[in-house]
Amino acid sequence: MEFTRLNNEIKIPRIGLGVFQTPNGLQTENAVLWALENGYRHIDTAMIYGNEASVGAAIAKSGVKRRDIFVTTKLWNEDIRRHRAKEAFEESLDRLGMDYVDLYLIHWPADGWQDAWEAMGELYTDRRVRAIGVSNFQIHHLEELATISDITPAVDQIESSPQFGNGEVIEYCRAHGIAVEAWSPLGGTGGTLLSNPVLTAIGAKYGKSAAQVVIRWHLQRGVIVLPKSTHEQRIHENIDVFDFELSDEDMAAVDALETGVRNGSDPDHFDF
Ligand code: A2P
Repeated sequence: MEFTRLNNEIKIPRIGLGVFQTPNGLQTENAVLWALENGYRHIDTAMIYGNEASVGAAIAKSGVKRRDIFVTTKLWNEDIRRHRAKEAFEESLDRLGMDYVDLYLIHWPADGWQDAWEAMGELYTDRRVRAIGVSNFQIHHLEELATISDITPAVDQIESSPQFGNGEVIEYCRAHGIAVEAWSPLGGTGGTLLSNPVLTAIGAKYGKSAAQVVIRWHLQRGVIVLPKSTHEQRIHENIDVFDFELSDEDMAAVDALETGVRNGSDPDHFDF
C-alpha cells in the first residue's frame, strides 16, 4: 500500500474502503474484514452512515492492530447546527469502540461549521484525533476557514470522478497543502460510469477493469481514493492497482469524460 503524508506529517494510505450506504451489521463487518484481509489499512465512515459500530467491531475482530489502520469518521450537520461537536465526537468513539480516530471531518459546511472547526481544533490539540479536516468544502469555505483559524485542514473530502473531476477545488487544495480525498470515485451507486467503453478499452490494454482504470486516474492526479463495495471480489480488485500506470494519453482520455455535472449534492445548496 502506498501512503501520502498529510500537512501534519502523518501518513495516510492512498486507498481507503468507503462504507457509505452499507448498513450496520454483517454487510459492513464483512466488507471491512475483506478489505483488511486484502491489504486495505484505511476505512472511511461517518456518523450519518449509521455503521460506526460495525466498522469498529470488524477492526477489533480482524487481528490487525488498531494503530496500523487509518480510521476516519465525520461530524454530522445536525451536530454542527446544535453546536455539539465534542459530544458527537465522543459518541462516535463510543460506537467505534476506539479511544481515538485518525481523521475527523466536518461532513458538510452546515451553518455553524466555524464553531465546529474551533471545537475540532481543541480535540486535535488535546490529541484525541490525529488529524482534522473538512468535507464538501468549496474554495470560498476554505478561504473563510483560513481567515478564522491557524489550523489548515489536513484533508478536504469532495465528490470527484471522471464525470465530475472537481478540478478547481483540487488545484486550490494542492496550492494550500490540503490533501484531497474523492468520494463517489467510481461514479457512485447506480452510476453508469464503469460501463463506459472508453474506460473498458483502456483497461483492456493493461489487463485491468474500468474500476481499476478510474482508481489509477485518481491516484495519478494525486487524489486519495475511497471506493465503496460490499463485494469481496470488487474490494480485492479496487486495491489491485499498484502494478500498472496509465499513460499521459490515457489520463487525458479519462479527463475528457468530464461532464461538469455532479452526481451528489451541491455543497452550496443542500437541504439536509
Ligand atoms: P457494490 O457495493 O455493489 O460493489 P463509489 O465508490 O463511486 O461510490 O461507487 C461504488 C459503486 O460501484 C457501488 O455501487 C459499488 O457496488 C460499485 N463498485 C465498486 N467497485 C466496483 C468494481 N470494481 N466493479 C464494478 N462495480 C463496482
